[in-house]
Amino acid sequence: MTRGQLILIEGLDRTGKSTQSAIIAGKLGKSKLMKFPDRTTKIGGIINEYLTDSSFQLSDQSAHLLFSANRWELNNEIIDLLNKGYFIVLDRYIYSGIAYSLAKYEYSKSVQNSGTKSTAIASTTASEQMGDVEWLYCPDKGLPKPDLTMFLTMDLEELGNRKGWGDERYELQEFQKIVKSSFMRVLHHEEDDSVEIVDVNGKGIEAVTELLWNLIQKKGVNELTDKQIEKLR
Ligand code: TYD
Ligand code: MG
Repeated sequence: MTRGQLILIEGLDRTGKSTQSAIIAGKLGKSKLMKFPDRTTKIGGIINEYLTDSSFQLSDQSAHLLFSANRWELNNEIIDLLNKGYFIVLDRYIYSGIAYSLAKYEYSKSVQNSGTKSTAIASTTASEQMGDVEWLYCPDKGLPKPDLTMFLTMDLEELGNRKGWGDERYELQEFQKIVKSSFMRVLHHEEDDSVEIVDVNGKGIEAVTELLWNLIQKKGVNELTDKQIEKLR
């Protein structure tokens, strides 16, 4: 039996993930674009409240598990669609889950040291679990592993100059710096050849699409496959 393939676009806030995911999905023909967090589900509704309302209290562990639970809400749909021959483009997924939580831990430690009392990003007491990559990874085990992951990265300086920075939780430049280094820790791109780092610095939309599309073709993930769907282990 052949199936479609699972393509993930990850990246920092404002690197063009959403624009590129939509364009790539369009180029793949029979395809579906999915975005995480998916704010339209039951759990997604709580996540949306958490992200947009800085007075909404949730422990760091709970927030982490909700993001993972949100992916599990869509697990069956992803598998069904792949088996029906759809190509799925994901706008964020598991690596965001680990990288942002790990970044919160690092951020908490830095604000603790600077003596700041409270912040909307994370509690000022760094919780042990948030610094434990194994713990962070566990709830996602068993979810479908993307056939190709492309991580969009750019210089923090250019990122800071981009328009559209909002006031959601996490949209703070000093925090993005930590997010970037956390992503580099959890992507394992050196030993995992399904993970590619794409530098989009100074590149326009079309140039980035060309880079991504070339990678997709090189890896053959734009063609149906008879490989089993891999699970995260
Ligand atoms: P998103 O809706 O993708 O924001 P944007 O459109 O600005 O990229 O994601 C909202 C925030 O949620 C983003 O700052 C990253 C964070 N996030 C997590 O902390 N954990 C997760 O598992 C995911 C998927 C996202
Ligand atoms: Mg954002």
